[in-house]
Amino acid sequence: MIVSAGRLWLLTTASSGYVVRLDADDTPRCAHWGPPLTLDQARDLPPGAEELPVEGGERFGVPALQLRYADGVRGAEWRFLGEELDGERLVLRLADRHYPLEIGLHYRLRGEVLERHTTLVNHGDTPITLLRCDSAAWSPPGREAWRLTHVSGEWGGEFRLRRTPLPVAETVLTSRRGHSGHEVNPWLMLDAGEATEAHGEVWSTALAWSGSWRMTVRREHGGGLTWSGGHGHDGLTWRLEPGGRAETPVFAGVYSPDGFGGASHRWHDYLRDDRLRPVVYNSWEATGFAISPGQQLALAERAAALGAEVFVVDDGWFAGRSSDRAGLGDWHADPGRFPDGLEPLADAVRALGMGFGLWVEPESVNPDSELARTRPEWILGQPHRRATQVRNQLLLDFSRDEVAEWALGRLDHLVGRYGVAFLKWDMNRPVTEAGDDVWIPYIRNVYAVLDRLRAAHPGLLVEGCASGGGRADPGMLARTDQIWTSDNTDAAQRLAIQHGYGHLYPAATMGAWVTDSPNAQTARITPLAFRFHVAMAGALGLGGDLLRWSEQELAEAAGLVARYKEIRPVIHRGRLDRLGEHAVQYSHEDRVVVLIRRPSTLLPATAPVRPRGLEPGAAYRDEDTGAVHHGAVLLSHGLPQPLPFDATSTLTRLRRLR
Ligand code: DGJ
Repeated sequence: MIVSAGRLWLLTTASSGYVVRLDADDTPRCAHWGPPLTLDQARDLPPGAEELPVEGGERFGVPALQLRYADGVRGAEWRFLGEELDGERLVLRLADRHYPLEIGLHYRLRGEVLERHTTLVNHGDTPITLLRCDSAAWSPPGREAWRLTHVSGEWGGEFRLRRTPLPVAETVLTSRRGHSGHEVNPWLMLDAGEATEAHGEVWSTALAWSGSWRMTVRREHGGGLTWSGGHGHDGLTWRLEPGGRAETPVFAGVYSPDGFGGASHRWHDYLRDDRLRPVVYNSWEATGFAISPGQQLALAERAAALGAEVFVVDDGWFAGRSSDRAGLGDWHADPGRFPDGLEPLADAVRALGMGFGLWVEPESVNPDSELARTRPEWILGQPHRRATQVRNQLLLDFSRDEVAEWALGRLDHLVGRYGVAFLKWDMNRPVTEAGDDVWIPYIRNVYAVLDRLRAAHPGLLVEGCASGGGRADPGMLARTDQIWTSDNTDAAQRLAIQHGYGHLYPAATMGAWVTDSPNAQTARITPLAFRFHVAMAGALGLGGDLLRWSEQELAEAAGLVARYKEIRPVIHRGRLDRLGEHAVQYSHEDRVVVLIRRPSTLLPATAPVRPRGLEPGAAYRDEDTGAVHHGAVLLSHGLPQPLPFDATSTLTRLRRLR
């Protein structure tokens, strides 16, 4: 609910309150972000930190908005124009006191999440340079100490959770790579050093942007904390032309009074929909670039027998693509490998009862491709600069509308011609040699292509990927159904990756394959059940070379896929509770599923895994053993952990009895 009271606005969710006030200079300030307050209580508050700090005056913090007008003058001085309040949406309209610049501060409540973004309009007849244009700045009430929680990583090791005391300094989280990045994901959580998984206050924000970005957190002497964030990395500037309008991505915020778990529940509710994701078989780890129709069909037959619902042909199906040296850009079936086209394979996959899926990387081009030879002017680059090749490839300049139109045309053709049910959209190289005017329109055109493709093919599922989890963010998740979390499919290592991913993103969006043992990346040998119990915690997929699996393994795998399908509504729609790094609980309606995984006995034995949120007075039946447990006993004593060896695991299914 949003209440307007003169120069004060009170935005309230079930468990949070946010108060914006205008000070005597018309500067909008955050007077409160925390537990809900009444209007009377809100009126008592001091004005607080700025909602969108600008340059100028006695300000020496992090500017969220840095402007330079044509005459060289910088900064802004606020003048309030008015409000627009419509249900759960609020816009505060402001202008500069002198220059013809209008600024909109936008707020929208969606459940427990407060979405914020900023718009700028240049009403003048000279351009305005934007040196920084963040979506929002955030400021919780002061505390003695502050602690930062975020995820960092690398290729094959994304989403590693970090929790560190925050120095009295400015701390920057950023991607300069043109995608949201393996190195750090665009969200953060802050607490006063006391919060736990289920208790204590946590303030959290996430940016819905899939290009480069920056968040700067400033802890001051005296307990003050503010942070500002938005698209674009340091040094990037934009021009706001006369009559031009700029709109930032959404930078959303969550206040949790019940710990990091409470913050995750709120993000999951916001980012989740009700749809169950299919069991996908993907051929990448099994066949790499060495693809043939017969071998793909043989894999498809085995995948179907195991219960896969979609069969995805990964990289290697298109013209000239026998290694990563050639082919990107030429999005038609390779005539050598598929002399009859892809139709026979697509039809055979459908005849087996599965949807047909394809891998694409629409933003990239190999110099050795027809596209590069015929359209060299579409390749992203700068005069007098070397064209950097990463994985032997360059990027197309997606900021150009004709490039985006071409990509949409190719994808639309592929999806229509082959009846593609599932598209894996990959992006395997960062943006380099790009001018200031490329970075933001590039991503907007990626979004536009995805939006238009999906509008034209409403049943199409899309998996977002950038060399694994390099482009996972709320902006990409708004346009895709799931994310390929990491190229590292070692189940033991995957636990930490999934633990970090799940802090913000829902389980249904977390692509997770069961692959071969020994694992292709780490050579680790693990039992099949352990690999399944790790991958079942998200959107289960299969990625192994099924042609090498024994009859016994295939039979066991078929049983585990069936078991997963039975618990899938609980995993995909339920509330996720982390019971430590290696155990997760999902609760939906009267059902509870707990997955406990023990990757190594070198780790200290864990305390009993105690489920959360059960009704103490209710009884719960173990659906596998038939044993009936009291909720109070489970809450207090936990579940048994019969895990005496490396890479062992349990799956417990409980149903609450009336
Ligand atoms: C990177 C992805 O993360 C992999 O799953 C696979 O699709 C390869 N690209 C293919 O080139």
